[in-house]
Amino acid sequence: MSLLKVEGLNKIFGGHYALSDVHMDIRPGEVHALVGENGAGKSTFIKIVTGVYSPDGGTLLWKGKAVTINDPGDAREIGINVVHQDRHLIPSFTGYENLFLGLKYPSSGVGVKWKAMQNRAKSLMEEYGVKLDMNKTAERMSPPERTMLEILRAMMLECNLLILDEPTASLTDQESEQLFSLIGKLIERGTSILYVSHRMDEIFRLSHRITVFRNGQHVATVNRAETDRDGLISLMNNKEYKKAIRIEREGAAGKPVLEVRNVTTVDGKVKGVSLDVREKEIVGLFGLAGAGRTELLETIYGLRRKSSGDVVIRGELKSGLSPRASLDEGVVLIPEERKRDALVMGMTIRENITLPVLKKFSSGWKLRGGEERKEAEGWMEDLKVKASGTEQEVGQLSGGNQQKVVFAKALMSSPFLYLCDEPTQAVDIMTREQIHRLLREQADAGGAVLFVSSDLQEVLDIADRLYVLHEGRVVADLPNRDVTPENVLAYCFGQGKDRDQS
Ligand SMILES: Nc1ncnc2c1ncn2[C@@H]1O[C@H](COP(=O)(O)OP(=O)(O)OP(=O)(O)O)[C@@H](O)[C@H]1O
Ligand SMILES: [Mg+2]
Repeated sequence: MSLLKVEGLNKIFGGHYALSDVHMDIRPGEVHALVGENGAGKSTFIKIVTGVYSPDGGTLLWKGKAVTINDPGDAREIGINVVHQDRHLIPSFTGYENLFLGLKYPSSGVGVKWKAMQNRAKSLMEEYGVKLDMNKTAERMSPPERTMLEILRAMMLECNLLILDEPTASLTDQESEQLFSLIGKLIERGTSILYVSHRMDEIFRLSHRITVFRNGQHVATVNRAETDRDGLISLMNNKEYKKAIRIEREGAAGKPVLEVRNVTTVDGKVKGVSLDVREKEIVGLFGLAGAGRTELLETIYGLRRKSSGDVVIRGELKSGLSPRASLDEGVVLIPEERKRDALVMGMTIRENITLPVLKKFSSGWKLRGGEERKEAEGWMEDLKVKASGTEQEVGQLSGGNQQKVVFAKALMSSPFLYLCDEPTQAVDIMTREQIHRLLREQADAGGAVLFVSSDLQEVLDIADRLYVLHEGRVVADLPNRDVTPENVLAYCFGQGKDRDQS
């Protein structure tokens, strides 16, 4: 019998079907993966099942009985908990407060029992082996910390179905492992999981069955053993799929574009880092959570203050680093948090893309709107942004398509140095390769790329060379030749040096 059975589900946005006649069944105790290209309808499906959106037709059966889920409270009540793709935390609330958001605080009639709240949170963290400073406010937490907090929150109430929409998008492998062991424990207890991800390895590792959506329609549901990575991708985009192969570019690098000399930040997150990136090079930067990857990029870009050391760009020593100066000069940062740092949700795609480059399209006081739109459309097409046009609001796009807009925006400013912090986060596997191709083209044309990803395999797929960071310091500088994930991880855990000597 099904735990949740959905039939004939429709959802229409602005005259287009986001979901059309979708069916799906989730069995008790299974991990059911849901995959599809960016904009295929995965999050919309989840939002309907959890009462965020109301459907435009279709039926939901829960344990064999018809149900209507009018709001998120209804979903929780029947036993469906969720971690949405666009995270839902209150920035100024502490971990504890966010954890109890929307739940009844334990109270003794007059006051809230803070002690009871803390104990409940602590035992939950112990049970699942999660370490988080719950007194910190959400805005002071890193993206992975926030994800773990949301996952914990979903676990606060017993549930029969836990829905995770791209939970690992900003997690490192190590943190993902924590999540996977947590999933394992839930499955043992008979909880079902609906799992959305673009990461093929975890889909094949975790799931029992896999459902594929394409353009708002259900294409297939298969047992894991019945398919493989390429087969799944072909179902997703209805095309034969071949993975891109990395070509080694020996001796291709040119003059140094970026030289970081002994840089330490005021907050001590980066400690005496030196590295360089040359023309035509894609340099990877890898490290575990807290290694200082994001902080280093932010320092180079001028968002974070350094206390000592130098940043040299194209041979010129930069004394005052600032985002504005960086942008004017041709240095772009593709930040980790698209919602907070890169996009204005209420503005159109075109406005977002051209925001930093209005100068380029104005002659005197006049804006050359036609050119602007044409270039924006060109990049949108290259990146296959799924939208009704350049005039659609960014907030209405799917998560992956928002990320594509962030990338298009970076390309529009024609930079020569790309500082990329998780640039392919949330994008589907086809677009991810397209982004790699575009970065490679930029590099081949003389640009330089510093590339951070929490997905080690991705770094190894794209980088010519890579630096490993550990607790704010560079612990290895490796040409990407015969490097295995194990080699890199050994450095991340601070063991690399010993291994070399033995
Ligand atoms: N609030 C909204 N208003 C208008 N259109 C929307 C809205 N929410 C989603 N859509 C559209 O519905 C379609 C499906 O989006 P959805 O977010 O479900 O995709 P997804 O499969 O989750 O993609 P991703 O992998 O990028 O997260 C997209 O074309 C999107 O633009
Ligand atoms: Mg989504």
